[in-house]
Amino acid sequence: MRVLFVTSECYPLVKTGGLADVSAALPPALNGLGADARVLLPGYPAVLDGLEGKSTVRTLSGLPGGIGARLVAGRLPDGTPAYAIESAELFARPGNPYLAPSGESWADNHLRFAALGWVAAEFARPADDSQWRPEIIHGNDWQAGLMPAYVAFTGSQRPATVMTIHNIAYQGQFPAAYLAALHLPAHSYHMHGVEYYGGIGFLKAGLYYADRLTTVSPSYAREIQSTEHGCGLEGLLASRTDHLSGILNGVDYEIWDPAIDPHLVEPYDHTCLEAKAASKAALQAEFGLEVNPAAPLFAMVSRLNWHKGADLLPEVLPALFARGGQVVLLGTGDSGLENSLSALAAAHPRSAGVHIGYDEAQAHRIQAGADVLLVPSRAEPCGLTQLYAMRYGTLPLVRRTGGLEDSVIDATPAALTDGCATGFAFDEATALGLGWAIRRATDLYRAPERWRAMQLRAMTRDFGWAGSAREYLELYRGLVR
Ligand code: ADP
Ligand code: GLC
Repeated sequence: MRVLFVTSECYPLVKTGGLADVSAALPPALNGLGADARVLLPGYPAVLDGLEGKSTVRTLSGLPGGIGARLVAGRLPDGTPAYAIESAELFARPGNPYLAPSGESWADNHLRFAALGWVAAEFARPADDSQWRPEIIHGNDWQAGLMPAYVAFTGSQRPATVMTIHNIAYQGQFPAAYLAALHLPAHSYHMHGVEYYGGIGFLKAGLYYADRLTTVSPSYAREIQSTEHGCGLEGLLASRTDHLSGILNGVDYEIWDPAIDPHLVEPYDHTCLEAKAASKAALQAEFGLEVNPAAPLFAMVSRLNWHKGADLLPEVLPALFARGGQVVLLGTGDSGLENSLSALAAAHPRSAGVHIGYDEAQAHRIQAGADVLLVPSRAEPCGLTQLYAMRYGTLPLVRRTGGLEDSVIDATPAALTDGCATGFAFDEATALGLGWAIRRATDLYRAPERWRAMQLRAMTRDFGWAGSAREYLELYRGLVR
């Protein structure tokens, strides 16, 4: 099965969130099952620098906006075959892949990511027989949204297309005036086409033209067909419900496993859980907190925005501190949230540590050192940090939504008795709802045997990619048959 996986980020070359982790892990997992999956990325400087054994395979002209580019082939650091679109005009800019240093989106993002979709579609019309031709082109998020449209316009002998929604809140909406520059035919500017609320919707286009739609958890696949979570696309998704399914993301256990994690002071796993204490003490010291093994240590590693529920913390945490609990937080995002969380840490320096920033190594140390990982998201398509936490024996405390609901088993009395509980879940996205769940977790923390049983259960659950990759392969086979 030949699959072109089209994505705007891929760990470790460029990462702003979970899409990068998925893009780094799913294609090799597919290849482990015998597929020939290759990744297509924009040629940001970090991508061109990071691709090994680079060579130019094709010169491309007439991209959207009349721009020229070169298609470069090479390998990702783990050996997965990959292509990059080399165009100084579009991608020779350091820093965040989507935002200018001002924090605003790059003004030409419509051209930059139309290029991603356009070049993906070029694989459907190879220049000659020697060129690799995918049977499936699999696009991810709005940045790849025009791919299924461009592929659909290439004619009948075309590869099948799949679009995966990692987060429906980001849709890539642009003015209708760009239609011609984006090489979109006039007839496509229609409700049954790329038109979306009076503009051009990249994600909308992908969801309309792709042969199959997926998202990253079964619950989110249901939720996005409702007005509450569909962000305007619920009608289209509901009309395509037979072509939409949810496949839970996995974890790359070569990167997220405390037994082999190079970032930890001392490795551990479920057979020597005592050694986790060293990571906890180191984390407390790193954040200037009281080094106290008995204090329940909560943590959050997240983009900071309203969807992630980080705004609930300042109201709730002082009560936790009063009962001897602590928190460490690593994140960046909305400046208002960054400020209120920093103020919280300043007011409680021995109980709260906040690092506003992005730090991959520290994210690992937090996963290992904390007792509980907070994920109070209002919406969460899948969420990866709760999956990572479980492997580290750090119990996730999540709001019951999307992939959080699908991956964490709440410590209800029945689940505790059955021995299947792996974390804590709450429903109401309010300070009261979160506060009550934190209270339940701290109470259980004082019952070490029960706590340890939950840790062992969480650590031995298998969220590896093999199972999810098999589901994708099955879905591809259904399209190629
Ligand atoms: P999302 O993609 O919505 O941000 P996920 O839970 O799927 O949420 O993925 C988030 C990824 O980004 C995880 O790998 C997490 O460890 C990482 N991450 C988020 N914020 C930070 C940060 N400030 N520093 C380091 N890693 C972070
Ligand atoms: C998105 C979602 C997150 C998901 C990730 C990878 O960024 O917000 O829930 O885990 O994509 O699919």
